Amino acid sequence: MLWPLLFWPRLPKVRRMSSRFRFCNFSIRPALLALTVCSIGQMAWAQADEARAQRIAGGSCFLCHGAKGESTSEVFPRLAGQNAQYIAKQLEAFKSGQRKSSAMADISARLTSDEMLALGKYYEKMEPPREPPKDPALAAVGQYIYHQGNRFSGVPSCASCHGANGEGAANLPRLASQFSGYLFTQLKQFNTRQRTDENQVMHVVVEKMTELEMAAVAEYLSGK
Ligand code: HEC
Ligand code: HEC
Repeated sequence: MLWPLLFWPRLPKVRRMSSRFRFCNFSIRPALLALTVCSIGQMAWAQADEARAQRIAGGSCFLCHGAKGESTSEVFPRLAGQNAQYIAKQLEAFKSGQRKSSAMADISARLTSDEMLALGKYYEKMEPPREPPKDPALAAVGQYIYHQGNRFSGVPSCASCHGANGEGAANLPRLASQFSGYLFTQLKQFNTRQRTDENQVMHVVVEKMTELEMAAVAEYLSGK
């Protein structure tokens, strides 16, 4: 809170200070005022964006992606903890038809770019549910591939892009705690090019993977 600072030059202690310092007060006060108005303005915008995102999420997204982005089935990806920019980018891709999904096409068509980013920030803050992998032996194979890749066939390490903890980055999806079924389907769709958004990078990654490797890495990530 900056507003109390606006009143500080009036304090008697400050008045007793040198004239040079008092001269300073005159130029500092308008600057502080501008800063305060600015930060209050930004806060109000952020709050309005969040309220809007909450309304949209509570109005439609929750039906498939769950009230807390945890999702009701592995057909629907978890959005909790997913990176805001990545969410917005995917929504743009569904809207333009670059990424095909009958479930997402109409919904994304109604969203503006601002709403997409607001929804991204809304879900990014949520904590995804954490469950141990259902098949620990399969997950152990996946752990190796995720971090080391497969040097015999040329599969790169996933961690080199998606991060050591599967957290991703702005335009790179978080993979940790995602449903294994969803991840497996996406890997297969990158390979067959059924996933049609900017998929060149992932197409090159998966074309050398066996189904066992895809299932293993998905199982490992679901429990991470
Ligand atoms: C009728 C069910 C349904 C509703 C409602 C729905 N979605 Fe989806 N969503 C899906 C499905 C199915 C997919 C996976 C598409 C695929 O397989 O490529 C998906 C994928 C996504 C993705 C991509 C996630 C990723 O990891 O790549 C985002 C982001 C997303 N939805 C956001 C939303 C938002 C925001 C809303 C509300 C405005 C919403 N969805 C409403 C079914 C739904
Ligand atoms: C060179 C960087 C790079 C490497 C290495 C890489 N990925 Fe990716 N991955 C990406 C990018 C970029 C995307 C986002 C594509 C998009 O925007 O649609 C992505 C998307 C994905 C998705 C889709 C997630 C979702 O929520 O829909 C999965 C699953 C995935 N990667 C798994 C893996 C696995 C498993 C490996 C290791 C075998 C791997 N990736 C290695 C860059 C990489």
